[in-house]
Amino acid sequence: MGVAWPYANGGLHLGHVAGSLLPPDVFRRYQRMAGRDVLMVSGSDCHGTPILLKAEGEGRTPTEVVDAFHAEHVEALRRLGIGFDLFTRTTTANHEALVQEIFLACLEMGYIEKRTQQAPYDTKAGRFLPDRYVEGTCPHCNTEGARGDQCDHCGKTLDPQELQDPRSKLNPDAPIEFRDTDHFFFLLSKLQPKLERYFAQHKEHWRANTQNFTQNWLREGLQDRAITRDLTWGVPIPLEGFEDKRIYVWFEAVCGYFTSAVEWAERASRGDFEGLPAGAANLAADVPGAPAPADADGWRRYWADPESRSYYFLGKDNIPFHTIIWPAILTAYNEWREKNGQAPLVLPFDVPANEFLNLSGQQFSKSRGVSIAVHDVLDRFQADAVRYYLSVNMPEQRDSDWTWDDFLSKVNDELVGTLGNLVHRVLSFTQKNLGTIPAPPADSDLERDVLAEVEACGRDMADRLDAVELKKAVRRLLNFAGWGNQTMQEAAPWKLLKEDRAAGEAALYALLRVVKALAVYMAPYLPDAAQKTWSMLGEDGSVHDAPWSAATAPLQTGHALPVPQALFRKLDPKELPGAEADAKATEASKKSTAKDAKKPADAKQEAPEAGVVDFDTFQKVQLRIATIKHVEEHPKADKLYVLKLDVGDLGERQVVAGLRAYYEPRELEGQTVAFVANLAPVKLRGVESQGMILAADHDGAVSVLNPQRPMPAGASIR
Ligand code: MF3
Ligand code: ZN
Repeated sequence: MGVAWPYANGGLHLGHVAGSLLPPDVFRRYQRMAGRDVLMVSGSDCHGTPILLKAEGEGRTPTEVVDAFHAEHVEALRRLGIGFDLFTRTTTANHEALVQEIFLACLEMGYIEKRTQQAPYDTKAGRFLPDRYVEGTCPHCNTEGARGDQCDHCGKTLDPQELQDPRSKLNPDAPIEFRDTDHFFFLLSKLQPKLERYFAQHKEHWRANTQNFTQNWLREGLQDRAITRDLTWGVPIPLEGFEDKRIYVWFEAVCGYFTSAVEWAERASRGDFEGLPAGAANLAADVPGAPAPADADGWRRYWADPESRSYYFLGKDNIPFHTIIWPAILTAYNEWREKNGQAPLVLPFDVPANEFLNLSGQQFSKSRGVSIAVHDVLDRFQADAVRYYLSVNMPEQRDSDWTWDDFLSKVNDELVGTLGNLVHRVLSFTQKNLGTIPAPPADSDLERDVLAEVEACGRDMADRLDAVELKKAVRRLLNFAGWGNQTMQEAAPWKLLKEDRAAGEAALYALLRVVKALAVYMAPYLPDAAQKTWSMLGEDGSVHDAPWSAATAPLQTGHALPVPQALFRKLDPKELPGAEADAKATEASKKSTAKDAKKPADAKQEAPEAGVVDFDTFQKVQLRIATIKHVEEHPKADKLYVLKLDVGDLGERQVVAGLRAYYEPRELEGQTVAFVANLAPVKLRGVESQGMILAADHDGAVSVLNPQRPMPAGASIR
C-alpha cells in the first residue's frame, strides 16, 4: 500500500487526513484483520521548488525546513493513530541510489532522452532559473507578478517564455535571457500503447474519477516530459556534466513507493528503525500486526510477486501521477529488470483517489486561513471522534464538507448516542447486576439472532472495505449498533433478570456478543475505542491482532468485569471553535468567492452554484462614473498609465491601468468612464492604484466604457 507523500513545506491539516491519510489506515487495519499480509509505506516529499522557496522566504536552509515539517508530520500521524510500516523521507541515501538506478535504467532502455531546450537564464546570478523564479506580466490578463509556471490572478498555466517583461525573482533588476540548456525527457509518448493496455485491464475496478482523469490524459495523447530541472536541491543526475541540475521532484517522489519498501525490509531485517534521518520514524512500532520479514529481500513479497496487489491512496489532484507517470516509469524499469534477470515490479492495482474535503464550503487553503491543523483539532478532541467524523463524511464520490455543527451532531448523536451508548449500557448493566460475564446459555433464540446479525454485518462491511468504500462500511457499523440498541430495548434484560434469572443472563450474554463484535468491527476506524471495549470485556491482547472472524467467537467468561468507562466524550456546543473558524472561512470567502459572507454557518445551503454571484454580493461592488482628468506614463512600466480621476462626491482617485498599448493620453483625457470605486488599493510597480476603470476587450481591441447619455462624475452605476 502506498500513501501520497505529503510535502515537507507545511503542516498537515484535515484535508490531508480525509483525502489521503485516514483511508489507507482504515483499509490497512481491516486487511490485516482479514488475514492479508500488508505493507504500508510513505514519507515526507522533501524536494521541489516550493520547499526551496519556503526556505528562502524564511531565511532557513531547505534541510532545516524539511527536518522540521517531517518531524511535525510524524507526530501528527502518531496522534491520529495512523500507522505506517515505514514513514521515511525522500532525502535518504537509499532513495537517492534507487532513483538513480531507475533513471539510468530508463535511459538505457531508450525511454529517457537528452534534449536541448531554451530556459530562462539570470545573467547576474549566472544560472538557469526554475519556472517559478521568473516573474513578469501575464499575457492573458496583463497582471504583473505572474510566475513562469502560472498566473495566480487568472489561473492560467504559463511557460516563462510567454511572460511579458520577464524578470528574475533573485535579481529583479538584471535582464533575463533565454539560453540553450540540456535536459532529460521521459518519453511518455513511446509508452502510450502499453499504458492503454494497462488502463484497459484495470479500469473496471477503478473509481469513476480515477478512470476519468486517466482516460482524459490518454485521449489527449501522452506528451514527453522534461524530468530534470535547473536546481541544486533534489536527487542528483548520475551523469557527468549535470552537477547543477536535479531530477524533477515528481519523477523521483513516486519512486519512493518502491524505495521505501526496500528501506523497510532492510531495516526490519536488522530490527533497526533507529537512527533514521532526523525525525523519521517507523510508525508501525505503535500499531500491532506489522509484518515480520525474514530478510532484506522482504520487500519482494509486495513488489515482485505477480499476485500481490498494490493500492495507492491520494487526492484527486494526484491521479495522473499514479495512473500514468508511475506505471510508465515502472514499465520502463521492468524492461531493464527483466533484461538483467530481475523479477518485474507490480503496477498499481487500484488507485482509490478521494475528492476534496471543504471547510464550511471553502476549499482548504492555509494561506487563505481556511484550514484546521491536525494538532489544533487533536488538542481539543479525541482522535477517534475526528476519525469518525472524517469517515462518515469521507469525500469518496464527491467533495464533502467539514462543518462544526455537523461534527457536533455526528459525534453526539451517532458516536456517543448510538455506538458508545450501547457498549456502555450493556457493560455497566452486566457489571452492576452480575459482576462477571455469565456462562454461555445452552440454547437461546436471541443469541442465534445476534450471531446472524453479527455475521451479516461482518460480511457487508468486508465487502465494502475490500472495495475501498469506507464510508458505506462505517455506515453499516452504525446501523448494526442501532440494531443492538433496539434489541436491548426489546429484550429488556432488567425485566428478565427479575422474572427469570437464567433468561436474563442468556439475554446479557447475547448482548455482550454484540459488544464484542462492535469492538472488532470498529477497530479499523476507531482504534482506541475498539481496544478499550475489547479490554473492558476482558479479552486478551490487542483487538488489532485479532482476526475479523473474532467477532463471532464466543466470549471469555468467568472474570470480574471492571467498572466500564465511557468510550467517547460528549461535546458541548460551547467548546466548538465554530464561531472563530467560521469567521475565518467567511473572511476568505469574501476575498475569493461570491458567497454571502453574513451567514457562513451552513455554507452548503447558501453557496450559490459555481460561477454564480448572488445579488447581495454583487451589491457590494461600488460602481461609479468617473471623469479622467489627467493621464501620464507609468515611470517603471511601459504598458501602464497613471490616471487621475474625478469621482464626484468620492473625490479624486489615482488609478494604474494597462491601456498604454491602446490609447494615447489625449484620447482618454476628458472621457467619462465606468469605475470600480471600492477595490482595495494595490501598488503596481511602485505606484498606488485606488480602484479600476472598466474596459471591453475583444480580439486585441480594447475600449473603455462610456455612459450612453451624459452623466456627471460620481453618478452611481447599478
Ligand atoms: N507531495 C505531493 C502532494 O502533496 C504528493 C506526492 S505523491 C508521491 O501533492 F508519490 F509522488 F510522492
Ligand atoms: Zn493572468
